[in-house]
Amino acid sequence: MYKILVSDPLSQQGLDPLQSASNIEVIYETNLTPEELLYMIQDVDALLVRSQTKVTREVLEHAKKLRVVGRAGVGVDNIDIEAATEKGIIVLNAPDGNTISTAEHTFAMMISLARNIPQAYRSTVQGEWRRKDFTGVELNGKTLGILGLGRIGAELSQKAKAFYMNVVAFDPYLTEERAEKLGVTKATLEEVITCADFLSVHTPLTKETRHLINRDVFSQMKDGVRILNCARGGIIEEEALYEAIQVGKVAGAALDVFEVEPPTPKHPLFELPQVIVTPHLGASTVEAQENVAIDVIGEVLNVLEDKPFRNAVNLPSIPKDQKEKLAPYQELAEKLGSFVAQASIGAIKKIRITYAGELAEMSTSPLTRTILKGALSHHLADVNFVNAPHLAKQRGIQLIEEKKNVSQGFTQLIHVEIATENGKNDAAATLLNGFGPRIVKMNGYAIDVVPAGHLLYIRHHDQPGMIGEVGTVLGEHDINIATMQVGRMASGGDAIMVLHLDNVIPTFVRESIAGMQKISSVTSIEL
Ligand code: NAD
Ligand code: MLT
Repeated sequence: MYKILVSDPLSQQGLDPLQSASNIEVIYETNLTPEELLYMIQDVDALLVRSQTKVTREVLEHAKKLRVVGRAGVGVDNIDIEAATEKGIIVLNAPDGNTISTAEHTFAMMISLARNIPQAYRSTVQGEWRRKDFTGVELNGKTLGILGLGRIGAELSQKAKAFYMNVVAFDPYLTEERAEKLGVTKATLEEVITCADFLSVHTPLTKETRHLINRDVFSQMKDGVRILNCARGGIIEEEALYEAIQVGKVAGAALDVFEVEPPTPKHPLFELPQVIVTPHLGASTVEAQENVAIDVIGEVLNVLEDKPFRNAVNLPSIPKDQKEKLAPYQELAEKLGSFVAQASIGAIKKIRITYAGELAEMSTSPLTRTILKGALSHHLADVNFVNAPHLAKQRGIQLIEEKKNVSQGFTQLIHVEIATENGKNDAAATLLNGFGPRIVKMNGYAIDVVPAGHLLYIRHHDQPGMIGEVGTVLGEHDINIATMQVGRMASGGDAIMVLHLDNVIPTFVRESIAGMQKISSVTSIEL
């Protein structure tokens, strides 16, 4: 039974399947006070929000069972991603569902701004007939500058081109090919700012984009430029915008978002007739709200049911085809990390992971996370796929990831080496076609071990009778050996045994084997 808290209004179409599922308890409580949220978050498995709920570090720290926060929309600036990652909580968004809606809203704002529609409406319904005062400008032939040519920026560019505007864009990730495909001129930030008749921002709000449009930037713009912000309040410095309108530099501004939302009714920009505003309506269409609710709820359920999900904000995104290819290695990776960590004694200082063969061609970060999870879980509680890299870093564990094309006779191989203050251990594993996961090498010895169940790792001196002696002690305590692997470097030298047992070996039995002559260590490993 999962408990899901929905703390902002979501489309009923999205909520229907949740509310009718027999294994889900939905608590749909919007307008919670911060104190109520702190109380209610304690025992829920998932939290679904839009932008009103502030998912702070304090909120996340109160959560005891929370696995996932789903944001029905794009912007996740109301969620403390760092705190969520540290706690191993997945943050998902629904980035695609409101692109059209927001691009259309931005376009509606641009036409409204060009033709003074909101001002003319207000005047006309008040009984005035001021045709001359509301003379506008055409979009046709004007330059639209776009900062941030992601989903919404790109969609807006296509609408503007249909109105015969020249579109010039700056985005650090914009390639020449994509610009060409969209029919947009790729430019620098300065070029966009200085040539735009209309300037529209479509970046996320980050440290870098906060006050991207400030006093200095306004001073470089064309006289009579018109400004649009349907992205995030704070990208444009509101005080600087006010001044730029007052001095006549900026002819008008259309704002859907504000530095503080909701803005105070006495907001200085509201006094200016050149400014038109909407209350953060970019994504407010029936279609967009349905899309984002359905998308995010589906993804949250995937997380809860341990199924693959796509839109995690605090996990790297991997191409779908690679995700599918990597999936069978996940279990192997976790077991391998755990195997080497359990064979090691002392605090982990360094983990070196080497991917060889076909795996070296892929985005292996999901496997690295899983190996770390397997290795760290031996010592730490509550380690998961999301927080494993953070926990490793926090503990000063050096992580080295390497890739090699040569895989020592296997189509693919994962090799993990763990260094502690007491020395190093390493093992390599693969998926054997038709036989499943295998550990094929340990500390330089060739072995063939299925990574599952109760294992016993023994380091000893190679001499006749050793296997028999170990078998006798185990037999005396009714512990059946399922399989046994023996490896040695040279006859009469150092050797290892890896035994698969049918039961967990009691400590006193392990210790009695460890006390035998010519045995240097005995480690039990549970996988
Ligand atoms: P996106 O991630 O697809 O696009 C953002 C683009 O900004 C990316 O291409 C990125 O490379 C670019 N960018 C980042 N930093 C930049 C910088 N310093 N200068 C120039 N470009 C930069 O996101 P999207 O879905 O297009 O959303 C864009 C914005 O719109 C976000 O802030 C989002 O929160 C907001 N949004 C608002 C509403 C609304 O209701 N008003 C609705 C949806 C989205
Ligand atoms: C978003 O980032 O998706 C928008 O701000 C829309 C919303 O209000 O959810």
